[in-house]
Amino acid sequence: MSILIINIKELLQVRDSNVLKVSGKDMKVLPTLKNAYVLIEDDTIVDYGSMDDIIKSDTDEVIDAEGKIVLPAWCDSHTHIVYAGHREQEFVDRINGLSYEEIANRGGGILNSAATLNKTSETDLYEQSVKRVKDVMKLGTGALEIKSGYGLTMEAEIKMLRVIKRIKQKFPIKVKATFLGAHALPSLYKNNKEDYLDLVISEMIPRVSEEKLASYIDVFCEKGYFSLEDTERILIAGKKHGLIPKIHVNQFNAFGGVALGVKYNALSVDHLEELNDDDITALQGSDTMPVALPSCSYFLSIPYTPARRLIDAGLPLALATDYNPGSTPSGNMNFVVSTACIKMKMTPEEAINAATINGAYAMGISNYYGSITRGKKANLIITKAVPSYNYLPYAFGDNHIDSVIINGEVI
Ligand code: NIG
Ligand code: FE
Repeated sequence: MSILIINIKELLQVRDSNVLKVSGKDMKVLPTLKNAYVLIEDDTIVDYGSMDDIIKSDTDEVIDAEGKIVLPAWCDSHTHIVYAGHREQEFVDRINGLSYEEIANRGGGILNSAATLNKTSETDLYEQSVKRVKDVMKLGTGALEIKSGYGLTMEAEIKMLRVIKRIKQKFPIKVKATFLGAHALPSLYKNNKEDYLDLVISEMIPRVSEEKLASYIDVFCEKGYFSLEDTERILIAGKKHGLIPKIHVNQFNAFGGVALGVKYNALSVDHLEELNDDDITALQGSDTMPVALPSCSYFLSIPYTPARRLIDAGLPLALATDYNPGSTPSGNMNFVVSTACIKMKMTPEEAINAATINGAYAMGISNYYGSITRGKKANLIITKAVPSYNYLPYAFGDNHIDSVIINGEVI
């Protein structure tokens, strides 16, 4: 199957294959080609260029993108899209004055979702999750990281990871799985954290690794959840079993989790709503990608990750949704990109780089995803006719997507 997209008003994020992430000042640069074409064969971008240089060839399908912009599909490097049920009552409780922390302390929050998930069959969990996966593909997401962490028992964590595996096998979207057994302390272990850590380290991690159910290991490193010491033990155990760290840090408190992630060569450190100078210093010179989750800040009314401080310090930054039932019941990367521009003062170029090539890096897949590059996977968004790419984040809340191609398939 071959597809030729012609008359593209502007083709965004055109890169050589050696660019795996962009940092600092380079984030302001978004290489583009005006009046362009892209040629796709099966699941691969085989060629692109200016319409002036197009060589006529026989293709199965021709798409005329006159007036439209084409860009790489979004790479959403942080989601909890596999979950059961919903938590809109907590949303109302927060409107009425309770904090996220107070709700969690009453047994709500993550433990609420874990209770629901434990009662949900694998088939039902799969069906509920698939609906969301289909929705985000239509919104232009072509690659997705999915975490476990709403099971908190061996059986339920494995159930979540199996669902992630089925999604990976069934849909054209690229999926990477992360084991997040240390997301919260289950009520059963309320007075016995040591035993739960032991279960995660000695039983869950070896099983997840043996059954090849995840590539990454995550921990919610936060006051009231898992300490620096707990996090370190889990990262060491994960690494011993071939799981690469990608961790939740600095959502509510900054106390050294970023440096710890860097010490263990985390692929990414995510959230960073609270950030101090030591965190920035720790990231400088490292290979770790900082990841901001602006929809979470929006929904919980907590600070936005200080993108300007990170980028102006020469660092890279990725943007992701954090799609989950508690802090971010939205998987819309278009909203994330707009919000990053509006609230975090990222330029459209920076936000698009953060949501494509840097998002792919934060999933360890930027050699095949995140840019328009010969040989990369054919994951593309074709917009409706728009005046410019700046218009995409500017006219927030509108759906600017005409069609989405994932792995060479028109969705
Ligand atoms: O990334 N912060 C930890 N975990 C999720 C939220 C979990 C929940 O409230 O269900 C997050 O925001
Ligand atoms: Fe998260």
